[in-house]
Amino acid sequence: MPNRDSIEVLLREGRTFPPPPEFAAAAGMADPQIYDDAASDPEAFWARCASELDWIHPWTKVLDWKPPHARWFVDGKLNASANCLDRHLKTRSNQAALIWEGEPGDERTLTYRDLWRETCKAANMLKSLGVRRGDRVTLYMPLVPELAISMLACARIGAVHSVVFGGFSADSLRDRIQDQEAVLVITADGGYRRGAQVPLKRTVDEALEGCPSVKNVIIYKRGEFPIHVQEGRDHWWHRLMADQKIACEPEAMDSEDMLYILYTSGTTGKPKGIVHTTGGYLTGVNATFRWVFDLKEGDRYWCTADIGWVTGHSYVVYGPLSNGATVFMYEGAPDWPERDRFWSLVEKHGITIFYTAPTAIRAFMKWGTQEPARHDLSSLRLLGSVGEPINPEAWVWYHRNIGGGRCPVVDTWWQTETGMIMIAPLPGQTNCKPGSATMALPGVSAEVLDQKGEKVKIGGGYLAITRPWPAMLRGIYGDPERYTSVYWSRWGNEIYFPGDGARRDTDGFFWLLGRVDDVLNVAGHRIGTMEVESALVDHPWVAEAAVIGREHELKGQAIAAFVTLKDAHKGSPELMDELKEHVVKRIGALARPDAIFFSADLPKTRSGKIMRRLLKDIAEGRMLGDTTTLADPAVIQALKEKYGEEG
Ligand code: WTA
Repeated sequence: MPNRDSIEVLLREGRTFPPPPEFAAAAGMADPQIYDDAASDPEAFWARCASELDWIHPWTKVLDWKPPHARWFVDGKLNASANCLDRHLKTRSNQAALIWEGEPGDERTLTYRDLWRETCKAANMLKSLGVRRGDRVTLYMPLVPELAISMLACARIGAVHSVVFGGFSADSLRDRIQDQEAVLVITADGGYRRGAQVPLKRTVDEALEGCPSVKNVIIYKRGEFPIHVQEGRDHWWHRLMADQKIACEPEAMDSEDMLYILYTSGTTGKPKGIVHTTGGYLTGVNATFRWVFDLKEGDRYWCTADIGWVTGHSYVVYGPLSNGATVFMYEGAPDWPERDRFWSLVEKHGITIFYTAPTAIRAFMKWGTQEPARHDLSSLRLLGSVGEPINPEAWVWYHRNIGGGRCPVVDTWWQTETGMIMIAPLPGQTNCKPGSATMALPGVSAEVLDQKGEKVKIGGGYLAITRPWPAMLRGIYGDPERYTSVYWSRWGNEIYFPGDGARRDTDGFFWLLGRVDDVLNVAGHRIGTMEVESALVDHPWVAEAAVIGREHELKGQAIAAFVTLKDAHKGSPELMDELKEHVVKRIGALARPDAIFFSADLPKTRSGKIMRRLLKDIAEGRMLGDTTTLADPAVIQALKEKYGEEG
């Protein structure tokens, strides 16, 4: 007899998961009418959402759309930090804004008043070093409250922040600092990861060779890390902060003034600096946070993403804080010191909303149900997923073993470029199907289109966003042409092309199918194949490289590289390690190739295009697909003979 409740049975029956009745009864967004209201007049709808924020000066026009350029809430003036802090002081002064736990177990709580005070002081600290409205400030920090404080301090004085994830190498950090011509870097002496020390300041020192725009570095003291302090350039955070006044008026920023730049991988060797502005972005993340996470008074919300990624920007900092939520932040790894660290944190801090990535969920599955079972997770009421398609098995496991069968699971599709969640259930009303991000949110227009731009009602094609939305990217920093060519030219300049494949089912639900361009998704992180290829050919012995993603049980995709060496050099296990390290040095540990295949030649079409599909077949140990367009079939034959067996 099959177990009626086994995951396979649930999935085979195509079971849907309606909101639990008690959840639906209390949900903030239980009325489906909102979809129609939004669709009938999207601009009026988004204007209502924008009025939830505090504006210093009202807008005169909701949307100015000159495809592909949009301006939202034209002429409106506001300040993002004032919206996240000052406006809560009357009602939530003593409510926790951030509850933080470091990897070693140290704890801090900052109330809204504390966070406001520290932000004002930090804003004055930046001013004291000459940072002005419009200047770019790079943040390269561990996941500590001071990272959020630094972002809000920049926003307060109108400086543009650009957070670089602490796992990026000195070379990557330097590229980003140079691209944005930052005037100041905020870092820490170091950070902790799986008990080891991450020497952040040392990486900054290395990166700053060749960054003449940077005049000052502020170092937050996280621990006892040996560092070098360069007189005149480097300053300790705590010393500067000790002298700062609290009073700091927020700058009146234009709705379209830049709030931040965040780099993300694309299909070229150089990451793109995605530009987000103030009014539309804040409107988008404020509303979607409230809807998708069904925020309630008393919630303790934990998003496990690092603030170095967009998820941390929109759903650790701006979305939750602009709503007056209590945010929990944890600095370290899920398996440190033991594999139940996350569940012990949920229990200890009474987390009610938990938002993580499928790659993490698959790791939890592998570690076994005994880990969550050791803890009381009954405080949880809602679970979320982001970063890559969630496989139905992981969805059901998460629902059952973390959510105890009582918490809705919201699978949220969005991107660095979209700024806000675009496709996701409303947990009080959507009948979820494991593996589907369900429907576009109210006010968002999504379709599946074919090559020609014809609508696919049922079936597969490319995901497309057919109307501007408030949190949309406004450009690529310093590269206006690329903005149009990458995102707004597949089907004319009025339709946004996200680069994802998607399928629509008979209920109109979206099933995201992963990237259709040369971007990999490794453990929920975007990495461009070209970026890794450029890093490899930068090694003096490498003549040519082709990078592909091969399926990986935990990471979704893992990086496999095919490498052709220059004359007289021979592939060896030592060289493999050296090349992997070379990529780590150029990009960061997140881009370390899992496998390197040496090959005398790479399979190409007659027009010289590398046939990645065939390489993928080899890397995944499959029978080769169609090889008829191959210029020289002997190349693939040789590769097959060499690697065919090992997969
Ligand atoms: C993928 C992360 C399926 C997708 C917020 C997208 C997803 C890319 C989902 C953006 C999801 C993100 N289902 N795929 N729920 N969420 N993706 O910019 O391929 O780091 O284009 O933003 O991740 O990654 P990014």
